[in-house]
Amino acid sequence: MAQLSDEEREAIRQEMSGGGAQGAAGSEGAGDAQAAGQETGPDLFEMNPLSQVHHMVGVVSGKGGVGKSMVTGVIAVELARAGHTVAVLDADITGPSIPTMFGLGGSYLTALGDNIMPARTKGGIQVVSTNLMLTDEREPVIWRGPVLAGALKQFYSDTAWGDVDYLVCDMPPGTGDVPLTVMQSMPIEGVVCVTSPQELVQVVVGKSVRMAQMMQVPVLGIVENMSYVTCPDCGRKIYPFGDSHLEETARRYGLPVLGRMPMDPALAAAADAGRIEEDLPENMLPDVIAMIEDLPDLLEPTPED
Ligand SMILES: Nc1ncnc2c1ncn2[C@@H]1O[C@H](COP(=O)(O)OP(=O)(O)OP(=O)(O)O)[C@@H](O)[C@H]1O
Ligand SMILES: [Mg+2]
Repeated sequence: MAQLSDEEREAIRQEMSGGGAQGAAGSEGAGDAQAAGQETGPDLFEMNPLSQVHHMVGVVSGKGGVGKSMVTGVIAVELARAGHTVAVLDADITGPSIPTMFGLGGSYLTALGDNIMPARTKGGIQVVSTNLMLTDEREPVIWRGPVLAGALKQFYSDTAWGDVDYLVCDMPPGTGDVPLTVMQSMPIEGVVCVTSPQELVQVVVGKSVRMAQMMQVPVLGIVENMSYVTCPDCGRKIYPFGDSHLEETARRYGLPVLGRMPMDPALAAAADAGRIEEDLPENMLPDVIAMIEDLPDLLEPTPED
């Protein structure tokens, strides 16, 4: 993996200490970590006593609109189809799109005592999202860093997730407060980095990889979304954006290419209609699923424990 330069480390450190996620997420433990010379920030958010989350993965990208939420949806649906219990934490607090994709318009989070109860999709996937708290989902959510971090804590710690095999976390674009807080304060086992061929792949992937590296979160690999279009007449793959630079970028960062998804109007239509569970074709991202299924269980004691 490419190493961060001293300047880049310093820039991220500055960003984190200047009112970014570290400050926002609560600073208990940060001093200890720093004193111990570690580069991680505050303690992990506590898991709710009513939650047993066995795995947690994130979906990130240095760039907006490349299909993070779509890839999150695909991963969730494919894990559920494989027989796992699945939940989605929509960490895109100000631009949530998961509830729409799963047809959860008109559904709301409920409370059980002090706990938040997630909404449930038709197929039984649990979802927590700001969209499920708003009476009008077109209302913009305008929250600053500390409030965002508070919302994330509630989504993780105050939610009674129950026994969940896989909690998949959809992130907002870029390297701001929210991805920082999620990577610092939740037990993310790894992130899947999404890019698309029309973007400067190296830049998009580079940003995510450097951030994850700084937060000591493994990058599981790269998914290229909207890679190609399949001709509806002859089935040939058409590459509207020319040659992809994915392989060389993946080599540069020492990461596997975990999948390529076509640009498919049927996928967009399924997401818009809230029918991703019903209409998603089979086996869109088998290598991502295989890699996630291989991760060690967070609740199993490790040999050092
Ligand atoms: N493979 C695909 N084929 C067709 N449409 C797609 C595909 N992937 C994503 N889309 C559509 O492109 C739009 C952007 O995708 P999506 O919302 O998943 O991106 P994002 O990276 O999560 O965006 P943001 O950065 O705003 O969170 C959505 O309307 C989605 O339905
Ligand atoms: Mg999104």
